[in-house]
This record gives sequence, C-alpha cells and structure tokens, in this order.
Amino acid sequence: MLSKKRRRAESPAIHPRNRYSEKPPDFGLLASLYPSFRPFVFSSSRSGRPTIEWTDSNATRELTRVLLLHDHGVHWWIPDGQLCPTVPNRSNYIHWIEDLLSSKLIPARNDSDGKVRGFDIGTGANCIYPLLGASLLGWSFVGSDVTDVALEWARKNVESNPHLSELIEIRNANDALCSDDKKPTSEKFDSEVTIDPTAAAEEAESLDPNPTEGDFCEPPILVGVVKDGENFDFCMCNPPFFESIEEAGLNPKTACGGTAEEMVCPGGERAFITHIIEDSVSLKHSFRWFTSMVGRKANLKFLVSKLHEVGASIVKTTEFVQGRTARWGLAWSFLPPSKKFIAANIPTKNHLSFMLEGLQRQFGAFQILKSVESFFQAIGAFCKSDFSSFCVNIMISNRHTGVILKDCSDNVGGSVASLTSNGSNNLQCPLNELSFRVSVFEQIPGTLLVKGLMLHKESPLSGVFSSLFWQLEEALKKEFLNKSHAR
Ligand SMILES: C[S@@+](CC[C@H](N)C(=O)[O-])C[C@H]1O[C@@H](n2cnc3c(N)ncnc32)[C@H](O)[C@@H]1O
Repeated sequence: MLSKKRRRAESPAIHPRNRYSEKPPDFGLLASLYPSFRPFVFSSSRSGRPTIEWTDSNATRELTRVLLLHDHGVHWWIPDGQLCPTVPNRSNYIHWIEDLLSSKLIPARNDSDGKVRGFDIGTGANCIYPLLGASLLGWSFVGSDVTDVALEWARKNVESNPHLSELIEIRNANDALCSDDKKPTSEKFDSEVTIDPTAAAEEAESLDPNPTEGDFCEPPILVGVVKDGENFDFCMCNPPFFESIEEAGLNPKTACGGTAEEMVCPGGERAFITHIIEDSVSLKHSFRWFTSMVGRKANLKFLVSKLHEVGASIVKTTEFVQGRTARWGLAWSFLPPSKKFIAANIPTKNHLSFMLEGLQRQFGAFQILKSVESFFQAIGAFCKSDFSSFCVNIMISNRHTGVILKDCSDNVGGSVASLTSNGSNNLQCPLNELSFRVSVFEQIPGTLLVKGLMLHKESPLSGVFSSLFWQLEEALKKEFLNKSHAR
C-alpha cells in the first residue's frame, strides 16, 4: 500500500497537455504586458520571484483575467465575490475529458460530424469550462445555471468573445421547473453573499429553508434542462461542494471567493451528484460520458457504489491534485464499452489457472473450495458446489455486474485514479450471463492448483471471466498465504 505522501508525490499535479505543465505562468512577464495586473505583483520574500497575494481576491481575479486573455485570447470578468477559477486547475478537468473522449472506451456519437458537444452543469458567472473548452479545443457547450447573477455574467462573458459565442449557449435550469409558481424566488437565488465566517450563521439559515413538500421545487439539473432529441458527448460539473456555509468556510491561503449559492446546496455534493446520477439513468442515451468533480473521497466511494447500483457500464475516476487541495474526477457511461477495447485490454481465454503454494497443512482443497464459494456468493453469484469432485459451478446474472467488478470502488483512493492511455484498470463490462467452473486440485502437500473453465466456450464475456478469476486469485492468496506466512 502506497503511503498518502508517496501517492500524492506520484500523482500528476497537472495534466501533461495542460499548457502550464512545463512552464507555470510568468507573473513578471504578465505584469510588464498588462498594466492593470502590475499593482498586484511583487517579489516573493522567500524565492525572490514575482508573485501575487493569494488571499487578495482582486489579485486572483486579475490573474485569471490576464491568463485567459494572454494564453487563450478570451475576454473575461466576474463581479466581486463570485467564485474565481484558477485557469491551470480548471484546464486539468477539460484535458481529462479530452482523454475520456479519445480513449474510444465507448463508441462516438453517430450525429456528431466529429464535433464535440458538452454540457456544463452550473457554469457559474465565470463560465470557465465552456470558455476553456471552446477556446482550447473548439468544443461547443450548453452551460446551465440557476442564479440570475451567474446567468447574466456567463452570458456577458460569452458575448465578450464573439469568436466563441456561436459555440456556447447559456441555459437557465429553472426554466425546466415543474411549474412557474414553484420556481425559487429571486431573494433565494439573487442574493450575492460572499462566504465570510462572520456572515455564515445568518446565511446558512437563509439557505437551508427545509422546505415542506410542495412548497419548493428543487431546481432540475439535467432532466428537463436537456431538450428532447439533444445529444452530448459529455457533461461536466463543479458542484456546490458544501452542505452549509460553515462547512464551506474560507480557505485562508487563497481568495477564490464564491457566493453561498455557488458553494452550498442542501445535502452538499453528495446530494447534488446523486441527483446527476439519477438524471443520468433517464438520459443514458443522450450522453456518452457523464462526469463530475468530487471534493471528498468518502463521497467518491459512495457515488461509485451508487453507479454500480444503477447499472453504469463504465466507471472511471481520477485524482486532480491542485496545490494543497485534492479533488477527484468521476466519469461514467451507460453505453456498452467497445468490444475492441475489451478484447485489447483483457486477455480472452476460456480456461485459466493459478497455483497456491506454501499453504499451511490445515488448508486443503476443501477449505479453498469453501472460500471460492463464499467469494462468488458474496458478489451475488449462484454457486453449486460438488465437494466430491472438488469443483464449484458458478452462474452470474447481469444484475450483479456492478457488484462483481467493484474493484473500482475499492481502488478509488489511489492507484486507479488516472485515466491512462489504455485506461483498463477500472473498467466494468455489461454482462449477459456468465457460467464457469472452478476446480481445486491438490498437487503436493501445501500446493494447490486452482482452475477456472468457462462453460460457454464462445462467450463474449471471456474478458470478464479473466478479470474475475484474477480477483479470485488475489483474494485467495490474501486469505491463505498471508495466514500461512503470519504463523
Ligand atoms: C461551485 S459553482 C461552479 C461554477 C463554475 N463551473 C466553476 O467551476 O467555477 C456551482 C454552480 O452550480 C450552480 N447550480 C446550483 N444548482 C444548480 C442546478 N440545479 N443547475 C445548474 N446549476 C446549478 C450554482 O449557481 C453555481 O454557479
């Protein structure tokens, strides 16, 4: 198990295609080119290099403005107090989606002409993802939001960039609300309150109205906002992470700001992303990939399990290390993974075997067989054991696919995080029905041979069989060989 520190050190802090990966922004150069940025730049007392005061919201906003202008040709502004995005960090998410789309894990849309279309849930006043995606990669976007200030400024930011305006549509998610009289009042959504510990208690009260049923209709996220017949390559979301203003607090080391409406929602990110997952089930054919940022690892685990429950065919995760903050990316799809991918990444054999060597004498074929049975029963498989011939027949229905390949949810914390070029480590495949036999043979005392045989020779699920068999091998070795060595 890698230590947290080592894992962090090994995680790429910045995506290799991020334009700042080799060369961070040169504040000295930017100050010399942009007079409005100059007053915010000074020499760091530690390194002597030009820097800015990260706790000054005017400085961080001006930095974002000049980076978008200088490196992306984008004209941009946000009013005081609104969440100020850091350009290098936000670019990482865009490049991860680019990886997902180009990985060919799932087939391209038929109607796309090769053009990529995305949906940014909660685009904010800053409209950062559509502006970056359109300027860097020529993608088109629908950016949704629910607050008047976000919608107004997102539109302004699009209009200030006529070269991108054709590519970006800003959509009010409230327009899809069940009925007009249930739309949130402008007091709830217009107030622009900077997160400030002193104002926190009052603000939390006004944000957590505990609506009684029928009084208030939670704004829709995707269902109703996505129009009939619309198709997208992906959706993305930097959700309101927190459940309360107190939880949001203020990072004393930076000044990214953020109003209550941007940072907080009832139930926090877990509830918000769960809502996206529920919507994704209804819109499974309208998006190739659904994605979201996740702020807490515990929530990531919960959400990955939720995705297994609802039958996602692929779940991917990545870790974004942003300065001192870790964030995770979660992506899923309901489309069948391309056969080519499964074939290319998982050896397809219908018989497999492994040895268990160095077992203690008390562990014979019988105990191993019992463990094989428990291993598969625990993941919902039907098992029929024949202890006289030391084999167990296993049948797995497609209903249990997600649980079976829960490898991903167990690994989300570390090594499986990033999508590599072949991206195979946490793939889940849809199953039809899988039948195979596991037999155990005693070789010499302390050594057993475990064999697996697919019962339908031509099954397209041999990749899944291999993956399960590897998991079984690991589980048995962990259970029996560790015990042997420990004694
Ligand atoms: C953390 S901010 C993200 C803003 C921007 N995307 C960014 O990364 O800086 C979350 C945004 O989600 C918006 N939001 C909240 N509920 C929403 C909903 N149901 N549909 C669309 N946007 C929503 C908030 O108004 C806010 O602008």
